[in-house]
Amino acid sequence: MDFSLTEEQQMIQAAARDFARSQIAPVAAELDARGEFPSETIAQMGELGLMGIEVPEEYGGAGMDPLCYALALLEIAAADASHATIMSVNNTLYCHGIMKYGTEAQKQAFVTPIASGQAIGAYALTEPQSGSDASNMRTRAVLSDDGAHYVINGKKSWITSGPVAKYVMVFAMTDPEQGARGISAFLIDAEADGFLRGKTEPKLGIRASATCEIEFENYRCPAENRLGEEGQGFKIAMGVLDAGRIGIAAQATGIARAAYEASVEYARERQAFGRPIGGFQMIQAKIADMRTRLEAATQLTLSAAWHKQKSREGGGRYTLQASMAKLFASEAAMYVTHQALQIHGGMGYSKELPVERYFRDAKITEIYEGTSEIQRMVISRLETGLR
Ligand code: CAA
Repeated sequence: MDFSLTEEQQMIQAAARDFARSQIAPVAAELDARGEFPSETIAQMGELGLMGIEVPEEYGGAGMDPLCYALALLEIAAADASHATIMSVNNTLYCHGIMKYGTEAQKQAFVTPIASGQAIGAYALTEPQSGSDASNMRTRAVLSDDGAHYVINGKKSWITSGPVAKYVMVFAMTDPEQGARGISAFLIDAEADGFLRGKTEPKLGIRASATCEIEFENYRCPAENRLGEEGQGFKIAMGVLDAGRIGIAAQATGIARAAYEASVEYARERQAFGRPIGGFQMIQAKIADMRTRLEAATQLTLSAAWHKQKSREGGGRYTLQASMAKLFASEAAMYVTHQALQIHGGMGYSKELPVERYFRDAKITEIYEGTSEIQRMVISRLETGLR
């Protein structure tokens, strides 16, 4: 078994790491404190090809493989989880879905500006009354008598990049009697009439990423902007989340790595009782457990990305690998950041160091794109065949 990276994978990893350390890390604390969307650095990431890594070059992307995406996202997350969130929604929840299920015209119109970093994309599945139970949605899309457009009404919540998105992939019921099989997907221009943005959510972590409710009031979506067939929307939503969850696993691993590296440095330097605290067994045990979980999270994430590549080449799903990577990496990030804060003691609790931000940012990875409970349900259903 060969775990070495290709030249291209090493190249994007190094480029993302350089950019993250030189351009993102210095501004991350300030953006977090102000809850400010990082327009400037996100635009630069677009120029570097980081906003559509797997999208072919003819549609504005970098034309690389899923491992390149996971490696780059991990590096960005190690500097700032907010940038990683925006990057992951653009790359997978938005671009991946259209590249997989879209028509040629849809790819050109809706992917190119987003993958090239000229605009931001979003994904709208969750509603105020339905998070984990995603198919229980109330947003309706009704086809006009002449079949030219759908009229969409309803409300979506917790939309990452909602306040700044130019285009949004939206899921709505076209046939409520069919349940999950009555859901369809649509590509929405957020600047058209009938698209309303609600207030921005005040969040515990990933504060520099912007999240809001969006509302549709008799929004007229041209029929040609339906993504996939009528009734195929829930499968599209779930398939897209398989890809998205690998990104969240990479994000969680990046946060964990940053917290781990800070802890090793602190354990070497901080003196107590006449020696570095890293010499005490209780700190040693923490470092060992943190490192081991970080390594396992990294390997599961890269393995899931590898399975996605195999699926691209030969078909088939990688749901199991994506859910396991997301479940493990997010819980590892929570564990590692918690231990990092403890190792740093009072300094870990202070906003003078980034450790408290890592701790706050890690929590979301156990919640969005499917909670840990949902990942366990998905894994168990796939393994036992029981529900
Ligand atoms: N790929 C393709 N098809 C899939 C699939 C997948 N990964 N998962 C399920 N399906 C298909 C099933 O095969 C089934 O098809 P048939 O009707 O042909 O049998 C259909 O979809 C319905 O599946 P289920 O019966 O399993 O559906 P369910 O109602 O029991 O729900 C669930 C399953 C796993 C709980 C799902 O609802 C789920 O993943 N919930 C969590 C939602 C989530 O992650 N939300 C996050 C939103 S994005 C976000 O976080 C915000 C952001 O901006 C970052």
